[in-house]
Amino acid sequence: MPDLNLRGGTVVTADGTFDADVAIRDGRIAAVGTTVPDDGAEAVDVRGLLVMPGFIDAHTHMDMPFGGTITADDWDSGTAAAVAGGTTTIVDFALQDEGRSLGDAIDIWQGKAFGKTHIDYGLHVAICDLTDAVKAEIPSLPERGVCTVKVFMAYKGTSLFMPDEDLFEILQISRDAGVLVMVHAENGDVIAKLQQQALARGDVDPIWHARTRPEGVEAEATARAIRLAEIAGAPLAVVHVTCADAADQIRRAHARGVTVHGETCPQYLVLSEDDLARPDFDGAKYVCSPPLRDASNQEPLWRRLHNGDLVLVGSDHCAFDFAGQKEMGRGDFTKIPNGMPGVEERAALLWTNGVRTGRISPERFVAVLSTNQAHVHGLAPRKGLIAPGAEADIVVWDPDQASTITHANRHGGNDYSPYEGHRLVGGPERVYVRGVLAFHDGEVVAPPGSGRFVPRALASPGRAVAA
Ligand code: URP
Ligand code: ZN
Ligand code: ZN
Repeated sequence: MPDLNLRGGTVVTADGTFDADVAIRDGRIAAVGTTVPDDGAEAVDVRGLLVMPGFIDAHTHMDMPFGGTITADDWDSGTAAAVAGGTTTIVDFALQDEGRSLGDAIDIWQGKAFGKTHIDYGLHVAICDLTDAVKAEIPSLPERGVCTVKVFMAYKGTSLFMPDEDLFEILQISRDAGVLVMVHAENGDVIAKLQQQALARGDVDPIWHARTRPEGVEAEATARAIRLAEIAGAPLAVVHVTCADAADQIRRAHARGVTVHGETCPQYLVLSEDDLARPDFDGAKYVCSPPLRDASNQEPLWRRLHNGDLVLVGSDHCAFDFAGQKEMGRGDFTKIPNGMPGVEERAALLWTNGVRTGRISPERFVAVLSTNQAHVHGLAPRKGLIAPGAEADIVVWDPDQASTITHANRHGGNDYSPYEGHRLVGGPERVYVRGVLAFHDGEVVAPPGSGRFVPRALASPGRAVAA
């Protein structure tokens, strides 16, 4: 592993921006400053570029069964796409199979990642079957390096759906175990009823995916999950917040002093319900849950990222092919697999549409993509920082790199991009994972299998993050 000195760049952290060199020794950051010694290390000229902690995406779905099919990205193509976008660590969701243990889910997901991942990774477990054995197993998750579990309040009629009494008990057990509960907050009962009614009327097109999951369905479930967490005395993370109404529930909880970490995703900031109405079933490419919203929600979401009510931007990368997968829902929108790709585009979309427009600062960009992710998800201080002792996961970011998204220049495995034609300004010039060059000049150079599992732990799951 080469010792490196990144010379002449501008370091951007969640706390500030300053000119400094960065010394990398044995895969870790050894020094940050203006007097970094030479001592034979290879000098890398990064003048004119920004040096940031590697981005962390704690919301991905690689090689995941969903809706009768399996995501188009496995750990090879999915993490190649991730590093091409500046992401050096993902935390993916291992799904518990009905009747099996959480440990089995971890083992199965470790098997999927083995020999394939280009970057480091951690695992959450999505609890799908809360048996007595599973209740007893939750406290042992941190010993397996897993400190976060996900509960789906949506997807009624599938094994993912979890009733309130189970969510509440998971919150209680997790509170005592130092495990953070993440919720997919949508009212599954109401969605199931609205879907049934829509199909009975013959309303079968992709736009009905959004119309049967209105904003209130998300806001109600968000408020309910927060209240359940408050009653249990547990911290909570609400993932993929899509609209002002749901974000307001989080703001109100913060005003009451409740620890709720809110995450949104780029698709809710730059795409809208109008994309679901595209002709010729093209809207199916934009089916994800919760759904894309009316564009009037975008500015409120940006404001809440700016003011700290939302502290994370994850991708919710869940890629399917249009051919053969999204097409399963022709004539019945409920059969369109939910999800879209975004792990590669996450940072550049946020820079282009957020930092360059002045909606968020470069420091906030680093916070929501890296440092806050590390704090909320138990990766700090190992990751998410440009500071002595941290692992040298580093993005050298070119703030002026111009490109246009097209499927052909993507690194992922599915057959379309929902961002086709979007202009980007800003992107990674090079990316290091633990001091080793992983992406450079548009090429993924880290081989499959070079990434490592990162055990995660939460000293205090409710720990505050930069607001
Ligand atoms: O549509 C989505 N988001 N698919 C992935 C599963 C989930 O709910 O996060
Ligand atoms: Zn979800
Ligand atoms: Zn997801």
